[in-house]
Amino acid sequence: MAIYLDNAATSFPKPEAVYRAVDQALRHAGGNPGRGGHGLTLEAGRIVLDARESAARFFGVRNSERVVFTPSATEAVNLALFGLLTAGDRVLTSSIEHNAVRRPLYRLQQLGIEVVSLACDPDGRLDLDDLEQQASRGARLLAISHCSNVTGTLQPLVEIATVCRRFGVRLLVDAAQSAGHVGIDVGALGIDLLAVPGHKGLLGPAGTGLLCVAEDIRLEPLVYGGTGVNSTSLDMPDRLPERFEAGTPNVPGLAGLQAGIAWLEESGSDMIAARVDALTDRLRRGLEVVDRVKLFGPGADKVRGSVVSFVIEGQDPSVTAFHLDREYGICARAGLHCAPEAHRTIGTFPEGTVRFSPGPFTTETEVDQAVEAVSELARRA
Ligand code: ALA
Repeated sequence: MAIYLDNAATSFPKPEAVYRAVDQALRHAGGNPGRGGHGLTLEAGRIVLDARESAARFFGVRNSERVVFTPSATEAVNLALFGLLTAGDRVLTSSIEHNAVRRPLYRLQQLGIEVVSLACDPDGRLDLDDLEQQASRGARLLAISHCSNVTGTLQPLVEIATVCRRFGVRLLVDAAQSAGHVGIDVGALGIDLLAVPGHKGLLGPAGTGLLCVAEDIRLEPLVYGGTGVNSTSLDMPDRLPERFEAGTPNVPGLAGLQAGIAWLEESGSDMIAARVDALTDRLRRGLEVVDRVKLFGPGADKVRGSVVSFVIEGQDPSVTAFHLDREYGICARAGLHCAPEAHRTIGTFPEGTVRFSPGPFTTETEVDQAVEAVSELARRA
């Protein structure tokens, strides 16, 4: 049985309830929600509504219509950026962003939007003074990831949101690595746009994601097409979520996503997070004392996400990951993790790092086996 330490890429395994929910939806809710009035379409519609209400509750969104489902967090980020920004706008971002943020911003730059990248320290933490200075010069939006997928650095969202509010800068948070691990209350924090994957910390299937949109934010759609309402108009409907949900929704995926959120709520998301944090600490403390292993990001005693990046000195990270997989059955991710700027910031460009990311079903024994495997590889290297 493989030791799966790649939950930052996608969580695995899923709770049993998630597998069951996907299966049930495919077998018993085969209609197309919002398209027709027969029993199977209503059943599918109920699944989508349940998922929307669960997600709204989980992220502190008062009106569930402001939760828009997307096929991924990447598409949620794209909808937020392309939907909000127009030529002449100024947007702030950080130097450790994933390509899900960097690439759409690069495209927007070509379309006349000014993009300012704020410095992060070698641990990946945003410089709040720099943010304040740049925000005071005026900006439409700050687009930032809550937790780095490379270093596990958690950005101080409360402080960031306060600065944004003070200077009238809208806040887009990419919660790809934090949603499900760290409590996020969109209303309490004053986040304008929150992009979330369904298949990572929320434990749902791949092909699910969402964007929470504040009441006073108006976006242009990213995708145009049928919505099941206002069919005589060539314009997309004004009302949410239909405005941003053209095409048939991923009903089985959303059934699984709802089951993932329900599992977190029933198990106690704080308790699950504390367990994963303890495993991450154990991993980091174990690797810290291994000769020739160099770790990146905030230390074990710091507030951080569930990602541990390291290299064995003198060995390419992809070689380490290859040996971990082939000799020890350990699943890790190596390389740039689609975040080259983050690696430039921490000094690991272009080779990148090896990344371990435990999840709710990881055991202490597995963590210890991973540390032992890295120790053996480091001795041999
Ligand atoms: N962005 C995901 C990762 O960090 C896929 O692996």
